[in-house]
Parts: sequence; C-alpha cells; structure tokens
Amino acid sequence: MVRPEVAASLAGRDCSGTTALVTGATGGVGREVALALGRLGADVSVHGRDRDSGEAVASDLRALGADSQFFSADFRDLAQVRGLAERVAGRVDGLDVLVNNAGAHFDDGELADSGVERTFHVNHLAPFLLTTELLDVIPDDGRVVTVASAVHRRASLDLDAVTSVDDYDGFDAYGRSKLANVLFAREFPRRVDGPTAVACHPGFVPSSGLWRNAPLRVRAVMRALSVVPRRLTFGVVDSPGSAAATPTYLAAGPAPEDGAYYEDCAVAEPSAAGRDDDLAARLWEWSADRVDA
Ligand SMILES: NC(=O)c1ccc[n+]([C@@H]2O[C@H](COP(=O)([O-])OP(=O)(O)OC[C@H]3O[C@@H](n4cnc5c(N)ncnc54)[C@H](OP(=O)(O)O)[C@@H]3O)[C@@H](O)[C@H]2O)c1
Repeated sequence: MVRPEVAASLAGRDCSGTTALVTGATGGVGREVALALGRLGADVSVHGRDRDSGEAVASDLRALGADSQFFSADFRDLAQVRGLAERVAGRVDGLDVLVNNAGAHFDDGELADSGVERTFHVNHLAPFLLTTELLDVIPDDGRVVTVASAVHRRASLDLDAVTSVDDYDGFDAYGRSKLANVLFAREFPRRVDGPTAVACHPGFVPSSGLWRNAPLRVRAVMRALSVVPRRLTFGVVDSPGSAAATPTYLAAGPAPEDGAYYEDCAVAEPSAAGRDDDLAARLWEWSADRVDA
C-alpha cells in the first residue's frame, strides 16, 4: 500500500509539535491522512461517527507516539458540530491543521434540520460551521484543508435549490456540495486574516465507504473496480492511501497557495463556477446566515 507521505514526497518531514484534527478519519481517505500525519510526528485528533473505528485509528496513532483522541459528532446535526468544536478547542492549545475531510453521498433526497438538503448540509454547511467555530484556536500560520472533488467541475450552484429536494439527484447534489468546498476555500482569504485555506481533489477511490448509499449498480461497479490493481487503471483508480497524498501534502508540506484548489499535490484550475468570486461571497454570507439561524 502506498504511503501518502511518500507519494507526497514528504517522507522524513518532521511535524512534531504540530496539532491536527482530521474529520471523517474513521475510514477511507481521512484515516490514511490521519495516520500519515501521525507518522510524520503530528498529534492528531480523529473525528467520525463510528466509535469502534475511530478509537482504533486513535489507538494506532498513539502507538506511533502521537497524542490522539477520538471525537464523535454527526454532521447532520449542527449542535453536534458546535459541540465538536468546543471539545477540540478545550483539548488543544492551538490547532495547526484542520482537515475537513468528512463527506457523504446520498442517493435519496432529504432535508436536514437546518432546512438545507442533507448532502449540502453534511458536506458544506457542517465543515463551514466547524471551521468558523475553531478559528480562535487556529494560529495565523495554521492551515484549513478541505477535501473537495474533481466532480465539482460538473456542478453548478443555485443557493435557492439547496433548500429543496424536489427533483433530487444524488450525484448532482454531491457535485454541488463539492463545488461549495472549492468556493469556501476561495473565499476564505477574503474573510479571515491569518490561516491559509485550500481545497483539493484526493483521487478516485472506489473502495472507500463513500458509495455506501449509492444505487446498487454503482456499488457493484465500485466493488469491481476496487480489486483492479491501480497500474491496470492507468492511475485512474486510487487506494485510500494514494488518495490521501494530496490532503497530506497540503496539511504537512510546503506552504500552500491561499484559496487555491489542488489536484495531485499541485495547484489546479477549478471550474468556471469554482472561480466565481461573486458566488463564493454569496455562499459565505448564505452559510453564515444559515448556521446562525
Ligand atoms: N471516494 C472518492 O472517490 C472520492 C473522490 C473525491 C473526493 N472524495 C472526498 O473524500 C472525502 C473522504 O471520502 P472517502 O472516499 O474516504 O469516504 P468514506 O470512506 O465514506 O469516509 C467518509 C468519512 O466521513 C465520515 N462521515 C460521513 N458522514 C458523516 C456524518 N454525517 N457525520 C460525521 N462524519 C461523517 C465517515 O465517518 P463514519 O463512517 O464514522 O460516519 C468517514 O470517516 C469526502 O469528503 C469525499 O467527498 C472522495
């Protein structure tokens, strides 16, 4: 299995003294990012919902010598997101790195308690709230890395549409939420002094848990792709470890470009919608209003 820190050319980098929180680190890409940061010497808090898996990752991190604790919070509930921020802020002196990795795809449309469509709520609104609640403990040289997706390129964002599940399409909703991740990082430097924010595409990981709510035929394709060796897919299919390279690079590597979107450990141009500064500003205002409502 490819080690993310090796794929990101960071092996040997010393992150001791760095404190990180990786959301959605109970499995998939987030688990590999958390372990990579731990191997580089960082102290890493682990977030997710599955307590057994989260405790196991925290235990693996402690075995590496890291200070680590598992924090449970369901991102469908903004009160739990606020509680997570409080608990993390109460435990660390400063949070050098926040990796907003938790994410989900839902095949069926549902409104969350916020009145926002569930995919947008979990994938955008929750990390928006978590990040803004943690800003007091993220130092000026800290980093906020949000795991978006290249599928943002297929998406458009109509803020009126995210409070409705009429004509819901799971893949459209997912792409729209990932576009919001890109726009969040883009707007961040205009709203926040100090920490650097970036978004990234990790890779295509058919073996991750992301597809658990997808239609049966999609799950069958993903299962089949999961067993094909990466070299036979011309590098298109990633393992969770190879997909963790770019978020690990952004969390622990050379200072990234503030507001930028990355693929394969390098700056990449997002879609036209992902470069829409008016939309990014409106999304920020809209999100701030929503989490205060
Ligand atoms: N897989 C891909 O091909 C791909 C491609 C591009 C981008 N991405 C992005 O990469 C990130 C990681 O995805 P992955 O592929 O590693 O998927 P994954 O294996 O399903 O991992 C998702 C993580 O998010 C957590 N999570 C999901 N729903 C949550 C909720 N309601 N509240 C709190 N935590 C929640 C899960 O925790 P629990 O299981 O403990 O609930 C899990 O730790 C996501 O942001 C995804 O959009 C993935």
